[in-house]
Amino acid sequence: MSRETIALASDHAGYGLKSLLAEEIVKLGHTVLDLGTDSEESVDYPDYGRAMAEAIAEGRVKRGVIVCGTGIGISMAANRNPAVRAALCSDETSARLARQHNDANVLALGARLVGEEVAKACLKVFLETEFEGGRHQRRVDKLGQA
Ligand code: RB5
Repeated sequence: MSRETIALASDHAGYGLKSLLAEEIVKLGHTVLDLGTDSEESVDYPDYGRAMAEAIAEGRVKRGVIVCGTGIGISMAANRNPAVRAALCSDETSARLARQHNDANVLALGARLVGEEVAKACLKVFLETEFEGGRHQRRVDKLGQA
C-alpha cells in the first residue's frame, strides 16, 4: 500500500468524526490534508464540499473523505464538480463496491447516522480497495462527461 495524502472536509456536524478519521488515516500509513472546518461552530456544508471538489479537481489529492450530519448535503455539493465521484456510504460493502465499480474518489459519511466503528471500517475499505476497471471504466468515463 503506497503512502497517499488524503483530504478531509466536514461541516460542524461532521467535525468530531472528521477528527477521529484524521487519526485513523495516519494509523493506516497516510498523511492528511485537512480542509476544515475546525470546530463545532455552525458553518455551511456546501463550502466544505466545494473545498474538497477543488482539491480533487486541482490534483492536490487523489482521494478524500467528507462528513456532514447525514453525508447528503456535503456529497451533493462535492458531486457538482465532474472531477468528483463521491459515494455516500453507511456500510463496508457499499464502500468496497464504490471503489471496485465506481472508482469513487471521495467517501462521504453521515456523522449523525453511522457509528464510529462503522465509519472507521468504511474508511479502511475505501482506502484499501482497488478499482476493478474493465467494463466499469466505460461507465466511470461517462460520469465525467456530465
Ligand atoms: C447541519 O445541521 C446538517 O444539516 C448538515 O450537517 C447535513 O446533514 C446536511 O446534509
